[in-house]
Amino acid sequence: MIPMPGKLNQQVAVITGGASGIGAGIARRFAQEGARIVIADRDRATGEQLATKLSSSSFVEMDVTQAESVAQGIQSVIDRYGQVDILVNNAGIDGEQAPTADCSLENWNAVRSTNLDGVFYGMKTALKTMELQGSGVILNLASVCGIRGVRKLPAYAAAKAGVIHLTKATALEYAPKGIRVNALCPSVVHTSLLEHFITHCEDPEATRQRMDNFNPMPGMVTVEAVASAALFLCSDEAQFITGVDLPIDGGYTI
Ligand SMILES: NC(=O)c1ccc[n+]([C@@H]2O[C@H](COP(=O)([O-])OP(=O)(O)OC[C@H]3O[C@@H](n4cnc5c(N)ncnc54)[C@H](O)[C@@H]3O)[C@@H](O)[C@H]2O)c1
Repeated sequence: MIPMPGKLNQQVAVITGGASGIGAGIARRFAQEGARIVIADRDRATGEQLATKLSSSSFVEMDVTQAESVAQGIQSVIDRYGQVDILVNNAGIDGEQAPTADCSLENWNAVRSTNLDGVFYGMKTALKTMELQGSGVILNLASVCGIRGVRKLPAYAAAKAGVIHLTKATALEYAPKGIRVNALCPSVVHTSLLEHFITHCEDPEATRQRMDNFNPMPGMVTVEAVASAALFLCSDEAQFITGVDLPIDGGYTI
């Protein structure tokens, strides 16, 4: 029997921070739908291991805080495949927890450079190729923290709000060129980033319980739920959807 083509058949998808957590979930989902996956991450060991498990997947080492590293990584994909159809700017960190006056400059710079500058570097490089192709889809991982206020994560909140607005500005610029740009805004998803956040809270056990009841809908958002939304926004089913910041939050932002 001839297999049915997937929703992303043969499309080349670069996923930053694709070695673990949400990025790995998106990589798995996109691979199931026939995409050719490039996992771009600073964690070579974990990224290479995942790439060997998925069909048509490879790994490229990338540090999204370094413009040159992002440009070289994406260029290596273009050299290999001749195209970039999908870019998921997912790499991110939560950083340290402290109110604004106590947020260190090191933390501010580390969180901003990973979560916001990295998205800019990725789009800046991929858009040139997408313009030549006359097509392309970009998906940026923002957060509900970029929509609503949040305590003790000023750099994270500001960077994620920046990602949402950068997404809208870029979507508007590139809509006439057939390129779509959207953002996803999950609430709490159980990944190593969330574990890092919980274990660095004043009362980790209380925070863990609060996370379980964070959204009006019961339970935490799953990696698979985020990956399904990513698949929709990156597939032709979302052909006229651009510039949105889609909450995946069980009603949290209501
Ligand atoms: N987990 C949540 O609750 C949650 C909620 C909303 C938004 N998000 C966002 O989703 C994205 C993925 O987060 P996650 O929870 O899967 O985290 P994670 O820690 O599980 O995975 C993050 C990945 O990014 C990689 N990474 C970090 N810094 C990098 C850098 N400088 N260069 C290249 N790769 C780098 C890590 O190696 C890792 O593989 C982030 O942008 C995060 O802010 C997460």
